[in-house]
Formats: sequence, C-alpha cells, structure tokens
Amino acid sequence: MREGPRFRVAAGGTVAGTLEIPGDKSISHRALMLGAIAQGDTHITGFLAGEDCLATARALNALGVSIEWPAATEARVHGVGLEGLAGAASALDMGNAGTAMRLMMGMLAGQPFGSTLIGDASLMRRPMERVAAPLRLMGANIATQEGRPPVQIRPAGALRAINYTLPVASAQVKSALLLAALRAAGRTRITEPAPSRDHTERMLGAFGVEVLREGATLALEGGQSLEGTAIEVPADFSSAAFFLVAGCLAAQAPLLLKNVGVNPTRTGLLEILQRMGADIRVHPRTTGGARAAEPIADLEVRRGALRGITVPESLVPLAIDEFPVFFVAAACARGESVVRGAHELRVKESDRLAGMAAGLDVLGVENQLLPDGLWLKGADSFAGGTIDSLGDHRIAMAFAVAALKSRAPIEILEVANVATSFPGFLETARAAGLQIEAA
Ligand code: S3P
Repeated sequence: MREGPRFRVAAGGTVAGTLEIPGDKSISHRALMLGAIAQGDTHITGFLAGEDCLATARALNALGVSIEWPAATEARVHGVGLEGLAGAASALDMGNAGTAMRLMMGMLAGQPFGSTLIGDASLMRRPMERVAAPLRLMGANIATQEGRPPVQIRPAGALRAINYTLPVASAQVKSALLLAALRAAGRTRITEPAPSRDHTERMLGAFGVEVLREGATLALEGGQSLEGTAIEVPADFSSAAFFLVAGCLAAQAPLLLKNVGVNPTRTGLLEILQRMGADIRVHPRTTGGARAAEPIADLEVRRGALRGITVPESLVPLAIDEFPVFFVAAACARGESVVRGAHELRVKESDRLAGMAAGLDVLGVENQLLPDGLWLKGADSFAGGTIDSLGDHRIAMAFAVAALKSRAPIEILEVANVATSFPGFLETARAAGLQIEAA
C-alpha cells in the first residue's frame, strides 16, 4: 500500500452554504513573474498561497527578485526590469508546477546566465520540448533529457522574433513564447490551433505591454517594458469546479461560490454542466479582479438531475483542468458520456485518463479508456473503496466529491499535492458539508 497522507470521505451527505475559494493558480504564477520583470513594484492581492505558486516565488527569489509578504495571500514584488534577473546559485526546483517550469523557460531563455530547472517526480516526467523547440528557433540554447526535465538553459546571444504555430492548444507554451518575445528583436507572432486561457495576454496589457490579436494570431513587439501595477487575483474557477459538481449532485440548499474568475477561456465546464441540465446561475460582479483584467462572478448552484453528454471537442481546451471532476459528474448522469480529443490529459500532473478510469472501476462505474478520451455510463450510486490519486491533486479532489453519491466510504491515497492548488481544501469541503478527514 502506498505511503503518504490520505483522505477518508464518508458516504452520502449534502452540501450548502457560501464558500470562499482560494486565488487562481494560473493568474498567481503570472502576477509574480510579470511583477518580477516589471519596473517598480507590483502589489498582488488574492494570491494563491499554494505550493505551486510558492515554487515560482522561491525561484524568482533565487534569480535576485525580492518579494515581501504582508499576508499569505498578498505579495509585493520589487520588479528588476526586463534585463535585471541574475543567475541562480543552484538548480531551480519547480516542485509539481508545470506552469512554473514552462513559463520560466520562456523568461530565462536567452539570458546572459545559465539556469537548470528541475521538479518533483511527476514534473520530471512531463514533456518540455513543446517549449524548448520554439525557443531554440528564437536563438535560445536549451537542452532537455529526452524531452523531459532537467531543462538546461545556457547563455545565448540576443533572441530573435519568430512566427510560430503551436502544434497543440497550450497556454503554457503560448505564455513561454510571449515572455521570450518581450526580449526578442522584432515582432513575434504566435498562432493557436484553438483558444487556450489568455491570462498572460490580458495581464501583459495591465502591465502596459501591447499585445495585438488578429484572429488566432497574437503579435508582440520585443523590447516593450513592463510597468509595475496592482493585480487582484480572482478565485480559481478550477478549484470552484469541485464544488460546482458537488452542488449539482447534492446541494440541499443553493451553494454559492464567491468572486470566481469566469474568463471564457476557462469556463468550459460551466457550459458542459449546463448542457447536461445543471442549474448554475452566474451573477457577474464588477468589483475586484478588475485590475487583473479578468471577469469575475458569484456562482450559485442547485441540485439537479444531469444527462450524459458527448463533449464537443471545441470545449476541451476550455475545460482542460476540469475533466477529473467532470468524469465524476458524468458518472452520476443519466445515460452515456464521452470525451474525445483530450490526449493532453495523458501528460498532466498524471495520466488523468488512466487515473480516472482506474478510480471509476473501483467505484463500479462502467467505463472504457480511449486513446484520447474516456467513455462512461452513469450510475445511480457508487460502490466506494480505495482510490489511488497517483499523487494528482485534481484526481484526489474529484473523488472526494464522488463520495456524495457513494454507498460506502471512499479512501483516497497520496493526497499531499492537493496543497499545490487548493490549500485549505479539507476545511472548505467540510464547510460545504462533506464529511472528510485526512489520515
Ligand atoms: C495552464 C495551462 C494549461 C493547464 C495548466 C495551467 C497555465 O496547461 O492545464 O493547469 O497556467 O497556463 P497547457 O498549457 O499544457 O494546456
């Protein structure tokens, strides 16, 4: 049996109430990084004090950037300017954070100093050539180990602008290239095969950088400087997602999630659940989050019967992090559901298709693993049992939600990484009504 902390979640129960969800992980990483290379100070509120973003903060410290912490969720970054980073004394450890590693590659490519990027066992297995290859086209000197970390970045001459079409829709690759383009001579053009989250583009605007968009192509002129600013980070839709599904399955009274980021490049799950028949009401808010240039809303969810769905492939990149909990919703829906065109799920913090299929097997949910997706048939209730999260935070939290529809308790192994994206998950889940404990 595997070591490490577990969750034990009682079977059944209901949820209700008003929840505060922690800050957005993607936006928190970006606020630190853009703040670091800006002129002057950047004040971040609503920051996600999770392990992933703290890895970014530590890496920036090692690169000579000082960050003050008036509170755990509030940071003041003393920007050093585009040319102000200094080489780190040792390898930069990005922990479990793929976003941190890939965006850092863009920031560190073409610097006059070398850098080595490493991470935990999961991150050391993840593909990095998708970032390294286009950065080499810009003139960077980067080596990976058969496509994976450690990533070795050696000093290189000035970067040059490129025209590049991404082979897969990836906000991390796009963002890494935008960060490199800031220091490249000329105008970099990046074309996306499908829309992916656009937080970097929006936030660059807030720092005074002009990013032009023409259809699926972004253009950025190198040499533009960033001006420190104030960033209010909204609550993370990807963390709210667990409670959106919990509410659909078991809200005894409306469940309200406050101040959630509802950038349309992130809310694919909302549309999927609504198409399945969910009762989720979106109450847009005009205060807060504005200076991150991000729309926010309160989300109100009621219990309701869900229908199975064939997820349109166009929604896959817009819901990419929400599939673990989507599969739990689909496993409670009437009829069959299928996701295709989601091969990217195999290279997340774990192989999320295989991990979810194995967990659904334990719960007695009929399913079939596909090369690029999953088919499954909804059930009235689940069997309960012991589930291996594979150390994947989102798989762990998804199966905690599944307990609401279980006939017997669910035990979830290897849950330490929940702290990468959702510190306080246990307390928030209990406040919602789940009977969950750590063991
Ligand atoms: C992220 C982009 C997505 C997402 C990840 C966060 C980001 O990854 O899955 O959790 O912050 O840019 P890809 O760019 O690999 O799709």
